[in-house]
Amino acid sequence: MSEHWTAQQIPDQTGRVAVVTGASSGLGLVTARELARAGATVIMACRNLEKGERAARQVAGGVLERLDLAELDSVRAFAERFAANHARLDLLINNAGVMAPPRRVSADGFESQLATNHLGHFALTGRLLASLLAAPEPRVVTLSSTAHRIGRIDFDDLQGERRYQPWRAYGQSKLANLMFCFELQRRASAAGTALRSMAAHPGYAATNLQFAGPAHFYERAFMAVSNRVFAQSAEMGALPTLYAATVRDLPGGTFVGPDGFREQRGHPRVVAAAARAGDEGAWLRLWDVSETLTGVRYEFSPRS
Ligand SMILES: NC(=O)c1ccc[n+]([C@@H]2O[C@H](COP(=O)([O-])OP(=O)(O)OC[C@H]3O[C@@H](n4cnc5c(N)ncnc54)[C@H](OP(=O)(O)O)[C@@H]3O)[C@@H](O)[C@H]2O)c1
Repeated sequence: MSEHWTAQQIPDQTGRVAVVTGASSGLGLVTARELARAGATVIMACRNLEKGERAARQVAGGVLERLDLAELDSVRAFAERFAANHARLDLLINNAGVMAPPRRVSADGFESQLATNHLGHFALTGRLLASLLAAPEPRVVTLSSTAHRIGRIDFDDLQGERRYQPWRAYGQSKLANLMFCFELQRRASAAGTALRSMAAHPGYAATNLQFAGPAHFYERAFMAVSNRVFAQSAEMGALPTLYAATVRDLPGGTFVGPDGFREQRGHPRVVAAAARAGDEGAWLRLWDVSETLTGVRYEFSPRS
């Protein structure tokens, strides 16, 4: 099925409700646009409403909502508005992210990459869980990266308070995305629910990511050249997400990435995570820490 799979092969999404985080730019915008084109109602969850409005003009019927993942109050408010307006959520795309900025602290006092990429999505998924479990075939797709391979979960210094290195912190957050995906699937299955938790990575795609985070001029200049020479388009980069979100027979816990050289470019296929991402003890520990830090507890009520 995966050979040269394109967005044209997305099954009909009519009647499905999707939330895409970080839909104002890059992969999130393409993901929102393609899901809407396939018939889904797409809620574009964006932190910057002005940017979001410009993006929403490119998404047929796209509904813009404010969501700042680095602010737990904003996550709670978003989930409450969603539940008030929608009977169920079929598809949650945990896409938004930041890469390798200098150390900053979120509104809740968390290191900004951990806050945005992992903790915000952990809280969001937990707060939307009842809406997801109300759907017949709910899916959550969480964006990771090949950078998960350089990541370690440093439980003794999760927030980089003692030592912060921007790329290591990015790798940690992207490994956390994968561990979250796997542990969510384990819990969803154990509770007898139909929820499927998937992960995807885009390889290397030219987006705003390479310019939003890194602070140094030389890093940005390097990225500008590298984006032109090596990166694939955001349209190609969004395919693994769209594949994980919509291809019918994929089992929960599947990780999807590009099929080309070193998974940097190409069409979607099922890929393997680094061995470290399979450490189930770390999944549990990360889950517990994430619950403590966000104050969000997952309540599964089995459907069958
Ligand atoms: N591009 C790649 O090569 C690549 C490779 C591996 C993984 N990824 C992953 O792909 C995902 C999407 O990245 P992209 O490449 O599309 O980058 P992008 O063009 O920079 O898009 C990132 C999106 O996340 C949003 N965002 C950032 N912080 C947020 C916050 N606190 N709350 C809500 N939204 C926030 C951004 O909003 P603003 O528009 O307001 O900034 C933007 O919409 C990320 O998770 C990234 O780690 C990308």
